[in-house]
Amino acid sequence: IEPDYEKLSLWAAEYVVNKINAFNPTDDRKFVLGLPTGSSPIGMYQALIKAHKEGRISFKNVLTFNMDEYVNLPEDHPESYHTFMKKNLFDHIDCPKENIHILNGNADDLQAECAHYEQMIKDAGGIDLFIGGIGPDGHIAFNEPGSSLSSRTRIKTLTTDTRIANARFFGGKPENVPSLALTVGVGTVMSAKEVLILCNGHNKSRALQAAVEGAVTQMWTISSLQLHPHGIVVCDEAACEEI
Ligand code: GLP
Repeated sequence: IEPDYEKLSLWAAEYVVNKINAFNPTDDRKFVLGLPTGSSPIGMYQALIKAHKEGRISFKNVLTFNMDEYVNLPEDHPESYHTFMKKNLFDHIDCPKENIHILNGNADDLQAECAHYEQMIKDAGGIDLFIGGIGPDGHIAFNEPGSSLSSRTRIKTLTTDTRIANARFFGGKPENVPSLALTVGVGTVMSAKEVLILCNGHNKSRALQAAVEGAVTQMWTISSLQLHPHGIVVCDEAACEEI
């Protein structure tokens, strides 16, 4: 528990810097990092960019896999997760383009795209560190309440709650938020060697309470983290109100 969002973000960024720097890459094995979007990771991304500028971290030997992407939103749409990642991280660091993986929500065959994504993660040797945020309903990536805890990458229909929560990015109108997304599954996240969840603000307090004090249930998909041998939640004081 960190006092505020700034400290939380710095803590998370230092954790990532230390993990990557402690890893010895080889020709056939790079550090594999799972990355989130949303407002929660922005502070961490800013701290990582700063650490990169200071020469404390390089992403040349890092492979990245993003958690999710909207379906049928053009890749260059201002609110696509492709655009988000470029703007908030990739345009400012030295991660080679070919190392970056983000689901293609405009693929002709969405199921094949999801299967291919899982295969690429497997071929990379699995994810070393998966970083995520959570939705106010406890979803991780776009694994909405009711998602199987063993789910893998697939197409999901977004709940009305999530579309309302994300309407702030789409002119305040939930109906403008895409209704479908591609997302890694709960099982995909849980297969990572380590999972780091960022959770800040009062509006996440019910989800955090369910995640750490509630039962493991598919209705709060983040609660699956209780079963992970290396699951970390870094949160601010405001998010801990219900604990
Ligand atoms: C979206 C993303 C999630 C993210 C959540 C919370 O639904 N698909 O991965 O965790 O938003 O976003 P925020 O961090 O903006 O609260």
